[in-house]
Amino acid sequence: MSPVVRPFISEESIQERLQEMALKLKGRFDLEQRVVVIGLLKGAAFFMTDLVRALARHGLKLDLDYMSLSSYGSGTSSSGVVKVRLDCREDLEGAQVLLLDDILDTGNTLTFALDHLKSRGAEKMVTAVLLDKPDRRQVSVTADMVGFTIPNHFVVGYGIDYAEHYRELPYVGILEGVQ
Ligand code: IMP
Ligand code: MG
Repeated sequence: MSPVVRPFISEESIQERLQEMALKLKGRFDLEQRVVVIGLLKGAAFFMTDLVRALARHGLKLDLDYMSLSSYGSGTSSSGVVKVRLDCREDLEGAQVLLLDDILDTGNTLTFALDHLKSRGAEKMVTAVLLDKPDRRQVSVTADMVGFTIPNHFVVGYGIDYAEHYRELPYVGILEGVQ
């Protein structure tokens, strides 16, 4: 059976939810100070691009940066070992940081990223993920803000891939027909 993407969360639902998230996130920060937004590449790229534009409408002063961590191979299961492929370049000493990821799954990635950014001097950390799969958790970690809590499906689209495919889809779909 060749893989099929079954539409799951529409483009409209994502955009509507991002506006709500931006409004709630605004209240978490000191608006006089800059917020360093750090997106985990590549999965969080679409989420970050849309969310920061929603945050900008609320007058937040943002600096954008990215990190690339590796935890997944090319398959659909996590290796559990997280490594830094590309570190962020912003000076984080004393900064308030908004950390963004596409999916909170086993929790290994977010836990590692939080520890790493704290060790780089971040003073305040707020985490937001587009999707949360709580059933899959291996380490006890929660995100401060979650777009959608979903069951244990393998999803693609809106930046999220399977072996680098499907990131370009404007919606989130369930990938069927792969192991
Ligand atoms: P964690 O370390 O297991 O929490 O992994 C989080 C990362 O795994 C996410 O940033 C995604 O890149 C990847 N991931 C988790 N679930 C899925 C999925 O359903 N589709 C594609 N990638 C996923
Ligand atoms: Mg990822």
